[in-house]
Amino acid sequence: MILPLLLACAGSIAPYDEAAEPARRAQLETDLKAKLGEAYDQPVPGLTEADLELGAEVWYKNCDACHGPYGQGDGPRADRMQPRPTNLHAGRTLSPAGEYQVIVDGSPGTGMPAFGNLPERHRLAVYRFLVEQRTKTPPVRKR
Ligand code: HEC
Repeated sequence: MILPLLLACAGSIAPYDEAAEPARRAQLETDLKAKLGEAYDQPVPGLTEADLELGAEVWYKNCDACHGPYGQGDGPRADRMQPRPTNLHAGRTLSPAGEYQVIVDGSPGTGMPAFGNLPERHRLAVYRFLVEQRTKTPPVRKR
């Protein structure tokens, strides 16, 4: 009874195409550059050390479940995502302003939600926290 239903559903969902990931990322970068203009290559204004504690709070409440404690893409929800959250320490191509905009708007075609509803100070704080986590050498984890 349930098998034909499953088959019908599977047929209607486009399978995740890992080969299309580089194109998705290139498109994201193009779109962010178009949206931000010159600001794309400028530093994110308003980042401050003073916000690290707040940033940690925001991270563990909103980001850790997918991105993991250090942003290595090893949060408990990561395995269920396509594409999975990647390691934010390595191989990133967006400018800081571009990354910050992804936090505000989300990332189309991925499970990355928009956090435009968080107060700006919380968003800046969490981005500052991510920058800090990248200066650390996190324990090696299996994916
Ligand atoms: C439901 C899972 C989920 C949550 C929660 C989440 N993310 Fe993401 N995030 C993703 C996925 C999936 C991507 C896209 C794949 C990638 O680029 O890593 C992504 C992408 C990103 C990127 C862009 C990376 C790039 O180069 O394109 C940043 C920056 C980011 N997330 C930061 C955050 C921050 C900060 C929070 C919390 C405020 C957060 N994310 C919460 C899943 C999540």
